[in-house]
Amino acid sequence: MGGGPGTPMLAAAVSDAGGLGFLAAGYKTADAVRADIRELRELTDRPFGVNVFVPSEPADPAAVERYAETLRPEAARYGTALGEPRHDDDGWEEKLAVVAEERVPVVSFTFGCPPAAILERLEQAWVTVTSPAEAAVAEQAGAHVLVVQGIEAGAHRGSFKDEEAGGLGLIALLQLVRMTAEVPLVASGGLMTAPAVAAVLAAGAGAAQLGTAFLLAPEAGTSQTHRAALAGDAETALTRAFTGRTARGIVNRFMREHGADAPRAYPEVHHLTAPLRAAARERGDPGAVNLWAGQGYALARELPAAELVRELSSW
Ligand SMILES: Cc1cc2nc3c(=O)[nH]c(=O)nc-3n(C[C@H](O)[C@H](O)[C@H](O)COP(=O)(O)O)c2cc1C
Repeated sequence: MGGGPGTPMLAAAVSDAGGLGFLAAGYKTADAVRADIRELRELTDRPFGVNVFVPSEPADPAAVERYAETLRPEAARYGTALGEPRHDDDGWEEKLAVVAEERVPVVSFTFGCPPAAILERLEQAWVTVTSPAEAAVAEQAGAHVLVVQGIEAGAHRGSFKDEEAGGLGLIALLQLVRMTAEVPLVASGGLMTAPAVAAVLAAGAGAAQLGTAFLLAPEAGTSQTHRAALAGDAETALTRAFTGRTARGIVNRFMREHGADAPRAYPEVHHLTAPLRAAARERGDPGAVNLWAGQGYALARELPAAELVRELSSW
């Protein structure tokens, strides 16, 4: 879980309890990812994964500029400047080098499918898919495992192209992908309880991946503003307002006021809104913070990660 919630402590606690903890490489420098991997290895000698963002094409700068214009009053409101809406590849080559050098047991990718030449260099390369078509591409490219992400999932959809993200719920998607895929599947999206984990295992997944269920764990780096919102009862919805890429979060003022204007421009819009979000978070104002959460967030509990893992596997 990028953006703060995922920490070496959380991943280590999950792995130690018999799950497979993941570190988020997204938004961090390659050096910071290396430091996280080493910290994790101090905490546990169990296997773990690192999740890497696949870079996307630059967006139309004019569309980003138009959106920036609509956000100027937000910047004034929070007493900050807008960020520079730059395109970058999130340190792609450098992070691939780090996970290879550090011999990371599992590397998972989201936002696209790396070329076969990259996948085959890795011992365990997992690719997130949100449609049967993406699953076919990823399997063909040599993914060892497909992470099948339903529309219920918290935060960004892992679609290869944002505009091609379908609308399939996890159970429908899992059944469709299971019909054709030969590699193991990891089911993801809206899973919060042991019976739900058992349900996806019955429907053909080899494992379940959960994000939102761990957001309130003491080991998670989830901000206080985000934790407070998770205790509320607002609905979740999909939005591009914060980052220029479709993601699910708890509906708040910023989503309502800017969702309709936001272009497809990731990571340009992520950088553009970052100072706003940081300022709002610091003030404890949930109105302009990206409150990522899956559809089942009302079931999130403030439990140590190890206890959660044990409960989730107890069906
Ligand atoms: C706060 C948060 C951050 C996330 N960050 C990432 C990420 O960096 N990379 C990724 O592949 N998935 C990320 N996800 C998505 C999860 O991998 C997973 O698909 C999702 O959490 C499953 O749905 P659930 O949240 O309902 O459990 C994130 C999810 C949340 C809630």
